[in-house]
Amino acid sequence: MKSRDKITLSTLMARKRQGRKITMLTAYDYPTAQILEQADIDCILVGDSAAQVVLGHDSTLPMKMDFMIAIAAAVRRGAPAALLVGDMPYLSFNVNAEESIRNAGRFMAEAGCDCVKIEGDRRIADTVRQMSAATIPVMVHMGLRPQAVHQFGGYRAQARDALSAQRLIDDAKIIEDAGASALLLEAVPPEPAKIIAESTRLPVIGCGAGPYCDGHVVVFHDMIGLTDTPLPRFVKKYASARDYLRAAVEEYVKDIAAGQYPAAEHCYQMESGEATKLSPPGMKGGEAVGS
Ligand code: KIV
Repeated sequence: MKSRDKITLSTLMARKRQGRKITMLTAYDYPTAQILEQADIDCILVGDSAAQVVLGHDSTLPMKMDFMIAIAAAVRRGAPAALLVGDMPYLSFNVNAEESIRNAGRFMAEAGCDCVKIEGDRRIADTVRQMSAATIPVMVHMGLRPQAVHQFGGYRAQARDALSAQRLIDDAKIIEDAGASALLLEAVPPEPAKIIAESTRLPVIGCGAGPYCDGHVVVFHDMIGLTDTPLPRFVKKYASARDYLRAAVEEYVKDIAAGQYPAAEHCYQMESGEATKLSPPGMKGGEAVGS
């Protein structure tokens, strides 16, 4: 695999200053990480969306720390240069400072992440401050926060009226001042996203937050067409992976049924002359053993 320069948070800051967009996708496994690395993606998010996308849950809430650490480490092995963001699962942070820092530290030390992501608004400023003081770079996920789905009453776009949009803008400033290293805005209109992106020195990654963010992220399985649930309106589908993969499996099933797989080229050869020395069990040289 070709190697490239390591992407760091400083790289993202420089990109923002230069007006060069930042690219980010989710990954949950080694081969996907290799594909993203080969395609020169800047950042990979090991999202707790794996709870839905990979494990089939209907929300991200059941995600466990140990699973996240295992998959984040696999993604790191597949993508050594990408900036790797480990998504902290539901209540793995915010219960108390000690637990938040210990869990965040596992993403950094065990999985090799460059940064962790936590969901929240101004109310998690203390957590951001404590993690940052413990040398852990934090990306804060604002706007639609999937871990707060029950408070939001569903997966709905946020900041659509002036009052809530202004609150989001003010929250972003509070979170920046608390020591965050990056922001992620999900499902918010372009207007507040533009004001936030232009008024902070932090890289702002949009996930359905319009064109003005410094970079963009979506779930990999959504953009390649592997997901079977309806896609959020902000996702552009770049492939029909589900149809492509199903066609391959259907052909495999058909080939086996028709005796066309495995063919000669898929078989190991015995050494020359050895096959003639074989007999069914209990037979030797054509005679039943013991007769
Ligand atoms: O978990 C995830 O994949 C995310 C993205 C939707 C931003 O948080």
